[in-house]
Amino acid sequence: MKVDITNALPFISEEKMAALLPKINELRTQIWNNQGKGNDFLGWKTLPEKLHQSELLKDIKNTAQQLREKVDIFVVVGIGGSYLGARAVIEALKHSFSAFGYGKTPEIIYAGHHLNEDYLAELVELLDQKDYALTIISKSGTTTEPAVAFRILKQHLEKKYGQAEAQKRIIAITDKEKGALKKLSNQEGYKTFVVPDDVGGRYSMLTPVGLLPIAVAGFDIDAIIEGALAMQKDLQSNELDTSHPLVKYVGVRNLLYQKGKFIEMMINYHPKLQYFTEWWKQLYGESEGKEGKGIFPAGAGFTTDLHSMGQYIQEGERILFETVLSIENPNKKMNIPTSDEDLDGLNYIAKKSVDEVNKQAELGVVLAHVDGKVPNIKISIPKLDEYNLGALIYFYEMSCAISGYLLDINPFNQPGVEAYKRNMFALLGKPNYEAETQKIRERLKIGK
Ligand code: PA5
Repeated sequence: MKVDITNALPFISEEKMAALLPKINELRTQIWNNQGKGNDFLGWKTLPEKLHQSELLKDIKNTAQQLREKVDIFVVVGIGGSYLGARAVIEALKHSFSAFGYGKTPEIIYAGHHLNEDYLAELVELLDQKDYALTIISKSGTTTEPAVAFRILKQHLEKKYGQAEAQKRIIAITDKEKGALKKLSNQEGYKTFVVPDDVGGRYSMLTPVGLLPIAVAGFDIDAIIEGALAMQKDLQSNELDTSHPLVKYVGVRNLLYQKGKFIEMMINYHPKLQYFTEWWKQLYGESEGKEGKGIFPAGAGFTTDLHSMGQYIQEGERILFETVLSIENPNKKMNIPTSDEDLDGLNYIAKKSVDEVNKQAELGVVLAHVDGKVPNIKISIPKLDEYNLGALIYFYEMSCAISGYLLDINPFNQPGVEAYKRNMFALLGKPNYEAETQKIRERLKIGK
């Protein structure tokens, strides 16, 4: 993995970058020594070494294999950190047209990540026709969105297969002892996996939360853990210098933020990375955005979004910087054919691979945007596969934790997420919210 900051350096001072180095190393040591804010949520940092060749990994793989042999569709019910990690990796690795029968089976479908009635009704229409199983993932076991979807799908499964078979088709991933989902799982005898106490939702990709759905989708979770472990060892052992990828990424984005670059756009040139960007947005947004501070994480897929967002990026408010996640080598080959008539005028790129053209677009865009005063960081991995994704996930998690500490905030809590829930519960008349219900109805000028 490489991080290239050449196109960000003109916007920051190299002296300031060098001055930040001891601080970054100090904060990294703090994390390894379990110090600092939110240090009861640092369990993610040793997950690769704990999981590598573990009994837990075997159990996840065996469970996944049994499901793979049995069903056409596997529904992942969860929201935020309880679904984005799995989706990020599965979408990055699966065939672009798997819904049409290409690539591996079963097809993975998501639910419980919003409250849309049409979606759930249409999902049930589909599941009426298909053989399926599901996992319900909720650390707290009480989140409304997955709980609503799960109630609907549990009843659907029981009606379709009978209670005893339905119980075998539900895997619960939740707290080891707390929450409504744990209670229900004990009562129904579901197979369960545990979300460790010391790992928050958005840092839970390398637990059963991310790994079970990824294994059911048919991808190699051993290789993910191996990639993450290599990164863990690298970030644990060495005193980092300014040439280290983590120092470059963490240092440059912090200095850009200090210079008024409040928005980081993660850019990809690969549509399979759309959900990886969504995962990254949650990781950084929920970790850094608090106490009136934090870089706003945004994302775009190029060259697609150059035809929609390109104008703003080139000439709008100068509050942006871009971090390109570049994949050095495509997994497949496709050359542009020659045409005798050349009516479309494309013969000048005939015989080149599509990826070569994509890479020239990437180079051209960087120059144009840097000329337009948009600093650019480039993170490259050799190819899109399990090992490299594992390493990248761990890299982003550690970078995010250190970045949060640089801002002097707790990167592991999310107090702000509760505000909408309180209002929604009050509006829905949830028991024990009676006082809030009355106040909010008055405020919104709605009757009883
Ligand atoms: O990162 C987080 O903590 C959140 O995104 C949670 O994962 C999300 O709110 C879902 O919570 P739970 O797993 O408790 O249902």
